Amino acid sequence: MEEATESTHCCENVSDSEEDKCSDTDFPPSQLGTKEFWEDVYQKELETFKDIGDVGEIWFGEESMSRMLRWMDKAKIPENAAILDIGTGNGAFLVELARHGYRNLTGIDYSPASVELARNVLQAEDLADVTVKEMDFLNCQGELKGFDICIDKGTFDAISLNPDNREEGKKLYVQALKDALKDKGFFAITSCNWTKEQLLDRFCEGLEFVQELPTPSFQFGGKTGHSVTALIFKRVH
Ligand SMILES: C[S@@+](CC[C@H](N)C(=O)[O-])C[C@H]1O[C@@H](n2cnc3c(N)ncnc32)[C@H](O)[C@@H]1O
Repeated sequence: MEEATESTHCCENVSDSEEDKCSDTDFPPSQLGTKEFWEDVYQKELETFKDIGDVGEIWFGEESMSRMLRWMDKAKIPENAAILDIGTGNGAFLVELARHGYRNLTGIDYSPASVELARNVLQAEDLADVTVKEMDFLNCQGELKGFDICIDKGTFDAISLNPDNREEGKKLYVQALKDALKDKGFFAITSCNWTKEQLLDRFCEGLEFVQELPTPSFQFGGKTGHSVTALIFKRVH
């Protein structure tokens, strides 16, 4: 596992100042929004894992996982809560959740190499009970439902960068999320591309803002901003 850093190098735009509210289209589409890009990333990470056992990139650093786990502790999320990791990548967050005692865990990713890597990583940790499925969150055909918590670390960011149909993609994401969550279920998102205001705007229908989790701040040009934004929402009808 990597050092606890707030890595933001996946980001196309770090614009998180309270005073600097951007529109949804402030940054250009990118290859980070394509399935081919992630397949290539996880093919390489899979080879590395098989060679030397390194799980690869922890997006936004280990602290991004500890931050969520601290919130889950405070919110008294029970160990049998059904938890979905949207765009699980190497499955490292699933491992941390399982180590923390959570035992009803599902990860999905549309990259077959990511799914193979996550399964390998979980197997190496003797965590055979965790479900990992190859699935496009934007086209999950109602298969994902009944979750108490949906976690997203960098996946909505990636989807927002899709060169094709990204406005449609963002709408499909919100609908899939609402379908996946139980009533009063939580959505925990960590983003490096969107400000708190933009996320509140995007996830305003069928979801209620619960709280912002503290993330490291920086100062630039007399303004204060955050390299990542971590928010909790609750599903409401
Ligand atoms: C920035 S990575 C984050 C990976 C992981 N959440 C983490 O924190 O390490 C974005 C992930 O989203 C996945 N992804 C992007 N679009 C997706 C979609 N439509 N359905 C499922 N997974 C998707 C990618 O394959 C990639 O694993």
